[in-house]
Amino acid sequence: MSKTYNWGILAPGNIAGKFVSELKEVENAVVLAVGSRDIKRSVDFAAIHGIERSYGSYEELVADPDLDIIYVASPHTFHAEHTILCLNHKKAVLCEKAFGMNAEEVKMMIQSARENQTFLMEAFFTPHQPSYQEARKILDSGILGEIKHIQGWFGFNRSPYNPNSRLINPELGGSALLDIGLYLMFDVLYFLGQPSRMEAFADLTPQKIDLSVSVAMEFEGGKSAHIFASILSDAGVGTDLLCEKGVLRLRRINAIEQTLEILLPGEAIRIVEFEKSSCGLKLEAIEVMKCLENNQLESTVMSLHNSLQLIENLDQVRQKTGINC
Ligand SMILES: NC(=O)c1ccc[n+]([C@@H]2O[C@H](COP(=O)([O-])OP(=O)(O)OC[C@H]3O[C@@H](n4cnc5c(N)ncnc54)[C@H](OP(=O)(O)O)[C@@H]3O)[C@@H](O)[C@H]2O)c1
Repeated sequence: MSKTYNWGILAPGNIAGKFVSELKEVENAVVLAVGSRDIKRSVDFAAIHGIERSYGSYEELVADPDLDIIYVASPHTFHAEHTILCLNHKKAVLCEKAFGMNAEEVKMMIQSARENQTFLMEAFFTPHQPSYQEARKILDSGILGEIKHIQGWFGFNRSPYNPNSRLINPELGGSALLDIGLYLMFDVLYFLGQPSRMEAFADLTPQKIDLSVSVAMEFEGGKSAHIFASILSDAGVGTDLLCEKGVLRLRRINAIEQTLEILLPGEAIRIVEFEKSSCGLKLEAIEVMKCLENNQLESTVMSLHNSLQLIENLDQVRQKTGINC
């Protein structure tokens, strides 16, 4: 890479801390500034992470002329507003998932990126991870034949939840689907494409926030998928691709430790392991810088079409279950 990219961090919460730690391992990346709604939080975060500049508002952060890229890490309900603020200042944006609250917001974000001729990508680590790329290669090799069914689950249980928790507070985008279910929906779209039909069920709080959600999907050619996401079940995380000639199991013990298991009748299980150094945040950052280096306004690994297709399907699930949108 020919240049060093200066990053700004908008909203220094939990994931922003992890992102900055991973970015330290990336050549040609410098975290130059952080912006918080509260100057003290900004100064404290800057001190912990050795960041040169700290601002007490997001507006001051985006006005810093030395920043090339801003990582938006506020709760989902603010992603559209904060992303558009950055884009209007011609800052390239890497915005956390869920990209927006619904397809309408995501379309506004994409339109803003296009009007400002500025780079935009959803911070969605899955497609950057080597295990996903390897899974695609294994499927393309034909040893397993076609996928007939996908079974995906993602669950943890930290209950009882504080009503102000980002996970269940509607004002902060609370929803098992938007926090973790979207990874499973992404897997299904990545490996099987757009479903032709969908049925969904959810366990809702009185405020219509989904604690658990279950989605069944049908695809052309008799293929199907079922996904289950829950913040009330310590289910762990996994995706099984049930194919004509065997099974491909994608396992993430946590976001870092990933394996692929290939099961073929009459053969010992083949396990493919991957480097444990990153949960993917730095891979997203590297992709953004690569795209900027090539004058691309969007990524081909996680395109804006991928983000829009994902949220459109999540909108459908919410319409079918009555989840508070
Ligand atoms: N990729 C991943 O693995 C991953 C993991 C966790 C979370 N995430 C995503 O990252 C985003 C942030 O999650 P998080 O767990 O980091 O949340 P968090 O710890 O609560 O941090 C969110 C930050 O947003 C800012 N903020 C702005 N308006 C706010 C409001 N009205 N209420 C609360 N905070 C507000 C706050 O910073 P200031 O007030 O200081 O500006 C806060 O520190 C979410 O969209 C989530 O889905 C992604």
